[in-house]
Amino acid sequence: MKLGIGLLGAGFMGKAHSHAYRSITTYLGTEVVPDLVAIYSRNKDRARNAMKRYGYRRFYTEWRDLIRDEEIEVIDNSLPNFLHKEPSIEAIELGKHVTCEKPLARNLEEALEMVRAANRSGVTHGVIFNKRWFPGVQLAKKLLREQVLGKVTGFRFAYHQDWGLSSDTSSWRFKRELAGYGVLGDQGSHVIDLVHFLIGKIRRVLAKAKRVRGADVEDYIVLLTETKEGAVGTIEVSRVSPGRKNYLIFEIYGEEGSLYFNMERLNELWIYIRDAPEISGFR
Ligand SMILES: NC(=O)c1ccc[n+]([C@@H]2O[C@H](COP(=O)([O-])OP(=O)(O)OC[C@H]3O[C@@H](n4cnc5c(N)ncnc54)[C@H](OP(=O)(O)O)[C@@H]3O)[C@@H](O)[C@H]2O)c1
Repeated sequence: MKLGIGLLGAGFMGKAHSHAYRSITTYLGTEVVPDLVAIYSRNKDRARNAMKRYGYRRFYTEWRDLIRDEEIEVIDNSLPNFLHKEPSIEAIELGKHVTCEKPLARNLEEALEMVRAANRSGVTHGVIFNKRWFPGVQLAKKLLREQVLGKVTGFRFAYHQDWGLSSDTSSWRFKRELAGYGVLGDQGSHVIDLVHFLIGKIRRVLAKAKRVRGADVEDYIVLLTETKEGAVGTIEVSRVSPGRKNYLIFEIYGEEGSLYFNMERLNELWIYIRDAPEISGFR
């Protein structure tokens, strides 16, 4: 079965999502085959190039024209954060399914407006938290679901990158009005999602944020958190840590065992189980 895809955005994520649509059937053997109908960029040459390079059938230079294309069933919103709400809601109201990049919106009010519009319309909708799908993270989820670690008492998550040190601060990513957040929305949203996915909802938080590049959003943030179930943990997120390209790690400590994951060693999950006398350390 074919599913008509319309992609908003031909930047970093536009490329990543196009690659995923082209390979998903090969890798996962899905019955649904993405039909790459159209891609949008404001610039005609970039739109045409992206269309050819990624294999779309046509391009648009106005997002409203793309979402009205009758062959498109799913709108993939890979635009900057300030363009998540309006195109997504308009697409939903046209009856299109919508998948939107993280962070869903620039603030809670915008996010709630989007979710309410989607729930009213009955379309399928979601926000992209791709880190959940790493095999190591899925295995961690399974072990936690099966209570292999017992009650989780504590955790430590950290996500460090360094691109923020050399990026042009005139980009939308460094403007609160356009991005909503700095690194908390960029990488932090992934980490908070992982805490919610693996451990439980955060109910209390104390945070200290730092602006390193002189823009009006944070580049480094440290959170001290507590989940509803009473686990305590820290989260550090930075885009100004020299040498760190995509360093996401987590450690989860339960009464019966521990887990350790490092995204730079993507296919490994370190596990320690107390009630396994044949091992004396992490495996
Ligand atoms: N899930 C993940 O791991 C992940 C990773 C990175 C980013 N993201 C998210 O994906 C979204 C897009 O990020 P990105 O890295 O792809 O950004 P990007 O490289 O800057 O691409 C954004 C695209 O939006 C288009 N655009 C349309 N109107 C625009 C405007 N008024 N100002 C600026 N750009 C405009 C730009 O294309 P034209 O200039 O050609 O129109 C550009 O190609 C963000 O919400 C980001 O948080 C998610």
